[in-house]
Amino acid sequence: MELPAAPERSFASDNSAGAHPAVLESLARANHGHVIAYGADDATRECEARFRDLFGADVDVQLVYNGTGANILALATMLGSLPGPHHGVVCSSWAHINVDETGAPERVLATKLIDLPAPDAKLVPEQLAELAHLQGVQHHVQPGVVSLTQATELGTLYTADEIAALCDQAHRMGMLVHLDGARIANATAALGGTPAALRSFTIDAGVDALSFGGTKNGLLGAEAVIFLNPLAAVGSAFVRKQVTQLSSKMRFLAAQFNAILDEGLWLDLASHANAMARELYLRTSCIDGVILDGPPAVNSVFPSLPRPAIEPLRDWCFFWDWDESRDQVRWMTAWDTTVDDIERFAEGVRAVLAAPV
Ligand SMILES: Cc1ncc(COP(=O)(O)O)c(C=O)c1O
Repeated sequence: MELPAAPERSFASDNSAGAHPAVLESLARANHGHVIAYGADDATRECEARFRDLFGADVDVQLVYNGTGANILALATMLGSLPGPHHGVVCSSWAHINVDETGAPERVLATKLIDLPAPDAKLVPEQLAELAHLQGVQHHVQPGVVSLTQATELGTLYTADEIAALCDQAHRMGMLVHLDGARIANATAALGGTPAALRSFTIDAGVDALSFGGTKNGLLGAEAVIFLNPLAAVGSAFVRKQVTQLSSKMRFLAAQFNAILDEGLWLDLASHANAMARELYLRTSCIDGVILDGPPAVNSVFPSLPRPAIEPLRDWCFFWDWDESRDQVRWMTAWDTTVDDIERFAEGVRAVLAAPV
């Protein structure tokens, strides 16, 4: 089978992309002289101020190395703010903390995840209300924190109202709310593309703490934990050290965020990735054999393909399986995906699917 030249960039993951040039330039600028280690430096102060501006509040900012570490730090601090060590974390069964963190929350936090079914990876307040039967019963771990993911692992989005309703329910039951925002930029871009949009589904909705992703949005490797509720943030800096996420050369984590928080670059990059996923949907959903539900909300599409086509396509341009029982795969765009990548990819998909089996 004759296939066109493979796209320059794959559709494997937004993690597969490199760092944005502005991030590398910012790192180079930060790489001068000696500064005090562990975050007592100007770049870190600037980064904290930028996040305070973004959220319009005196938020507590803790920079970390990676997304799993961000979730662990947020959850460890939040659980620590609750009275007693017998609290668990409620999440969807699709949650990254449940399926893709190698049991780190259970191991490191010595807690239990209470995972709930969610076909579209979104929890609803009624599911939290049903947990009331566990409350006050000494034989059961007590629901202490609810962790939502925005955008979800299935590329779906909560509206600001949906998150507010979940926060209301959780708070009425004495629980705190964490948001895993590994792709919070893609969610913000899709929900209005402004700082006000970000605030509407986080601080205004009542979220207590969140993991703010950077690595999937053009950084070399940095994430931030933002505590919006000071009562959920007690001891956050100490906990960061305990969970081994305190960088001695903090200026380099901060410099990365400073680059994308400048002039809304973080939203431009995420809007671009989302737009490229829509383009990918448009150019592939019309190909015979590609089954796609509807246009993507953010930067991933989940097509089902004829099984014999998957391996040759993947050998030509790599992507991951998603649900093998449905021959479903995941194609993901990134801040640097181009229309040319998508045209070539669609051409390859068309050629492989047209080939006789
Ligand atoms: C929703 C979500 N949360 C957290 C993470 C964790 O990121 P990391 O791989 O940097 O630990 C990922 C990474 O894929 C993710 O998709």
